[in-house]
Amino acid sequence: GKDKELIRDSWENLGKNKVPHGIVMFTRLFELDPTLLSLFNYKTKCGVVPECLSSPEFLEHVTKVMLVIDAAVSHLDDLHTLEDFLLNLGKKHQAVGVKTQSFAVVGEALLYMLQCSLGAGYTAALRQAWLNMYSIVVSAMTRGWAK
Ligand code: HEM
Repeated sequence: GKDKELIRDSWENLGKNKVPHGIVMFTRLFELDPTLLSLFNYKTKCGVVPECLSSPEFLEHVTKVMLVIDAAVSHLDDLHTLEDFLLNLGKKHQAVGVKTQSFAVVGEALLYMLQCSLGAGYTAALRQAWLNMYSIVVSAMTRGWAK
């Protein structure tokens, strides 16, 4: 429906420049919660955000995140096919010390990135469409924390 159209149209250009947009998102994430930086075990090489954002391992993670979003956008009609992948991805994040509450902050950072790049295209309807998709991704990842 309309939600899927809004997401696909807005991702079309964004998805072509994953790393720069991912950097905007993670810069915002660390502004909102600087303690998240300490969860990256390669952080010793980049104690502060600007340095961290130019470290290859870190940019790889940014790319990984953007590829997961890309996969979700491509699977809007059958998001359930990503469930096992997302559950395992959740498990990996639990193992590195991420708390499920942090996904709310990641969501804020995602919306911030969308707002920055879409400008006037960032409407209430678009924001809600993205939040809906993001909450499906997060709830699947969160199942990875279950005992
Ligand atoms: C792996 C941290 C959010 C996707 C990792 C790793 C860390 C990490 C430390 C392992 C090292 C690495 O691969 O770089 C975090 C933190 C997050 C976060 C602190 C925010 C609170 C996300 C989100 C996604 C994501 C939202 C995608 C929706 C991935 C992927 C991997 C990964 C695909 C690789 C997993 C594998 O090795 O199979 N993350 N992450 N991360 N992360 Fe995240």
